[in-house]
Amino acid sequence: MLTFDILTLFPAMFVGPTTESILKRAQQAGLIAVRLHNIRDWAADRHRTADDAPYGGGAGMVMKAAPLAAAIRATVGTETPPVILLAPDGERFTQAIAQELAQLERIVLVCGHYEGLDERVREALITREVSLGDYVLTGGELAALVVLDAVARLVPDVLDAASTAEESHSDGLLEYPHYTRPAIWEGRPIPPVLVSGHHGEVAKWRRRERLRRTLVRRPDLLARAYADGHLTRADLTYLAELGWAAG
Ligand code: ADE
Repeated sequence: MLTFDILTLFPAMFVGPTTESILKRAQQAGLIAVRLHNIRDWAADRHRTADDAPYGGGAGMVMKAAPLAAAIRATVGTETPPVILLAPDGERFTQAIAQELAQLERIVLVCGHYEGLDERVREALITREVSLGDYVLTGGELAALVVLDAVARLVPDVLDAASTAEESHSDGLLEYPHYTRPAIWEGRPIPPVLVSGHHGEVAKWRRRERLRRTLVRRPDLLARAYADGHLTRADLTYLAELGWAAG
């Protein structure tokens, strides 16, 4: 069981994404737990103030240290889970990080908002900072949902193992194309090998499609897969036919 503790000013943003489909089933099956904590509940004043103007002036508001720190400390308790801040200046989130986090028993996700949070909370209590990419969201909530979703689906039994073994990014290659009935749609046939009944030929075709797609769409990933030793000699022979030279 992997527990996600999510600290946010906007817990309602998590309803829907966490109460439908696979994340819903995973919680019902006791494979993951999602606990939402409203940072405002730890504000000391009667207005429940969680933000304030920045020292030094400038636009926007800054999340106050005390309520956020109290929320993190109360949530973490005596355990030592990673306390991950979602922020555009964090380390880029990847499938490798998702796989790493899926091994844990507990993850605390802190959603930043406004212009940012008081730097001293980052220094004192945040253990890791993760960004989805080089763009700025209105807050960390959507980023936390992405991390939650990407990690939860890797927890054993949330999906069947077969569906995560050969997918895009799991071993550095993109996924092969998929088809379902009918065999001809709007004049477009499926690749005949898929109905040949030869499992070996199907596997070989799929592997080649993964290599070809990765070469065409993400040559950077192909170079990485090669460097990481994910490519076989047969792979390299096929890639050479396509004009790719390693290194
Ligand atoms: N909060 C705002 N922008 C973000 C981003 N790109 N990634 C993670 N958290 C964010």
